[in-house]
Amino acid sequence: MFEVLGQPRPNHWSRVWPTSVAISRWLLEQTAGSLPLSATELGCGMGLVSMTLAHLGLITEGTDREPIALAFALKNALRNNLVGFSASRLEWSEGVGVPTSLLVASDVIYEAGAPELLFTLVETAGLLSPGGRLLLGVPHARTELLDTFVNQLQVGGYAHSEGARVVAWEGRDEAIDVHVLTRPEA
Ligand SMILES: C[S@@+](CC[C@H](N)C(=O)[O-])C[C@H]1O[C@@H](n2cnc3c(N)ncnc32)[C@H](O)[C@@H]1O
Repeated sequence: MFEVLGQPRPNHWSRVWPTSVAISRWLLEQTAGSLPLSATELGCGMGLVSMTLAHLGLITEGTDREPIALAFALKNALRNNLVGFSASRLEWSEGVGVPTSLLVASDVIYEAGAPELLFTLVETAGLLSPGGRLLLGVPHARTELLDTFVNQLQVGGYAHSEGARVVAWEGRDEAIDVHVLTRPEA
């Protein structure tokens, strides 16, 4: 974190958000064999969720629009001796990426255009494979844009479940919603 403070363009990517702790805990609680062999994270920032996926043995691709965030994520993977992690630049309005059966996104829906961009990427462009799962986390205080996105997917036939979590973070209790959306089989 001290290294990040010296960067010229600190941004949303340059801290670890409590949502990524909630998502990481969700992943760590899953039973052995219930997760696929590989996963992709959208908007990974410095990559705590990707580190958790790699720690669990998944081949993990962390993606973000900020190259410097990806550099820090790679450094984190090296420092933690995590193999199986790679980082790629993916701006949702530009790229498609390689289809995956587990797509994870922690606290990435906060700009007005995000639901539309993510729907196009995940559903229309097919970044999530048929039958695949999308794991989404969002602070409970900020669910409006997330709800728009989740509703769109439900209309498209996605199964949906939701759980509430609390993360003690920087002296406060943060309420986080964790959503799992499963794409229908083709
Ligand atoms: C609030 S940070 C969350 C970082 C990390 N996932 C966490 O929970 O700690 C949001 C991240 O989403 C990325 N992001 C936002 N909009 C994006 C877009 N349109 N395409 C790619 N990445 C995006 C930002 O660069 C940033 O790293």
